[in-house]
Amino acid sequence: MSFSPDPTQGKHVFDLDRQYVFHSWSAQGALNPMCIAAAEGSYVWDYDGNKWLDFSSQLVNVNIGHQHPKVIAAIQEQAGKLSTIAPQHANDKRGEAAKRIVELAGPNMAKVFFTNGGADAVENAIRMARIHTHKHKVLSTYRSYHGNTGAAITATAASCHGNQNGPQASPASSATIARPASTVTMVRTTARLRSSIRITPSEPSSIGSSSQPAA
Ligand SMILES: Cc1ncc(COP(=O)(O)O)c(C=O)c1O
Repeated sequence: MSFSPDPTQGKHVFDLDRQYVFHSWSAQGALNPMCIAAAEGSYVWDYDGNKWLDFSSQLVNVNIGHQHPKVIAAIQEQAGKLSTIAPQHANDKRGEAAKRIVELAGPNMAKVFFTNGGADAVENAIRMARIHTHKHKVLSTYRSYHGNTGAAITATAASCHGNQNGPQASPASSATIARPASTVTMVRTTARLRSSIRITPSEPSSIGSSSQPAA
């Protein structure tokens, strides 16, 4: 992979974002997003050529490393073969993925429910747990984040995510939770970590082409 710093393109990317993109959980006028031009392994590069160590693997979803060649190859192969199917159909890759997850999940785990995203998964997990246990309380950790849908946001009792006054303040509480004031209990854990750190003040004009993605 090669990448050349391009501050002009960086400004264009920034301007496009600021004009047309609405970011989650943010006062839009105060935003100053880092514009990512490239990524490899544990690092990302901005358009000025600065190299950043991505401590959080974006949303902890690229722990295998940015642009891992096996992941890229698998995505490309599948996109060329069959890029999307609706939930009601069967598919070889979904079935195989489910089988492997069940094998790793341990005893008493028999099936996988694929959802559209994290908040969707949390919603369904809460619903299933309540139906199964007939109990309503949900424990979530202080400053945790569970997504931006009704029950998920109710379980996200952190002021930084807009739930200013705790779970009972969420509009979703009365609709989705039987005992609004005490349904979600917060347990204090650790503060958020800084998500990235700049490695070099400025970087030469190309990214090393043979470095291994982080494991
Ligand atoms: C721990 C956790 N749960 C749920 C979510 C929500 O996921 P999604 O944005 O896919 O709905 C996130 C997203 O950052 C998350 O980090």
